[in-house]
Amino acid sequence: MNASGVLGALPEHVVRLASYGLAAVVTKTFTEKPREGYGPPIILRLRNGGYINAVGLANPGVESLPQVVRKGKELGLVTIVSVGGSSLDEFVKVSTTALEAGADMIELNLGCPHTKGYGLDVGSDPANVYEVVKAVSSVSRVPVIAKLGFSDNYVKSSGKALEGGARALTLINTVRAMVIDVYSAKPILTNVFGGMSGPPIHPIAVKVVYDVYREYEPEIVGVGGVTDWVSAAELILAGAKALQVGSALTAKPREVVNSILEGLREWVAELGYERIEDLVGLAHKR
Ligand SMILES: Cc1cc2nc3c(=O)[nH]c(=O)nc-3n(C[C@H](O)[C@H](O)[C@H](O)COP(=O)(O)O)c2cc1C
Repeated sequence: MNASGVLGALPEHVVRLASYGLAAVVTKTFTEKPREGYGPPIILRLRNGGYINAVGLANPGVESLPQVVRKGKELGLVTIVSVGGSSLDEFVKVSTTALEAGADMIELNLGCPHTKGYGLDVGSDPANVYEVVKAVSSVSRVPVIAKLGFSDNYVKSSGKALEGGARALTLINTVRAMVIDVYSAKPILTNVFGGMSGPPIHPIAVKVVYDVYREYEPEIVGVGGVTDWVSAAELILAGAKALQVGSALTAKPREVVNSILEGLREWVAELGYERIEDLVGLAHKR
């Protein structure tokens, strides 16, 4: 799947995502009201090969969501709606709209690290995670996935999400980080800090997936720095059953998706297995 955020706020984005060869598409996180997000600069490439962004959950709001979902369904795609909220009520309202529009799954954004009152501000408190997941699960007839970020509480929050009814966990969102311009001596991002993505966070994602799998053996969607089949394979071995790619889809997305799939196919065969599922969490069995 694509990771929520870079595309997926408009029907035309879904058309583009559909051409990448993905098994499912994930929308941008939708909130109840439209959000403009922060002013530029909101994203930049880092010298370590990653990105840092503080977009501020810019999205057109829940009124525009049905068209996005309908476009995904029209194209025959499994369509997962990323839902944001700063209150239980907002999470439930956006989820209800997603369900009415025909979403195949809901992914709750409990991990965005740079938007006050949203994402990690909710998801780093295990009790909040439980409340949100429970409230949405109780109104949803489709699977609810909790997407969490990197915080001190990620194992506990994962447990609470599962207890609240999450069918799977998406791990991880971007990791809090910042950059300073050495000539102006000022933080570069308008929001001062943002979330880092891409290759530098991959080993962190591997560790989070590994820890959570060891504790609960849930179904995990691994995300963070996947650029090629090796980085994908590591997350699978740590415990991920499905994968999302975000930053690496910014250039030559079709080639990236293809080479990951091809590489994984060869890798599974070379190790003498038949299905990827046989390799999920294999790093734990020693
Ligand atoms: C520009 C940008 C916008 C993002 N927006 C969202 C978002 O709206 N909702 C969300 O859950 N994650 C969002 N993310 C996080 C990604 O979905 C993903 O968890 C993170 O980038 C790590 O994956 P990657 O290293 O493959 O990019 C965003 C990431 C980037 C770079």
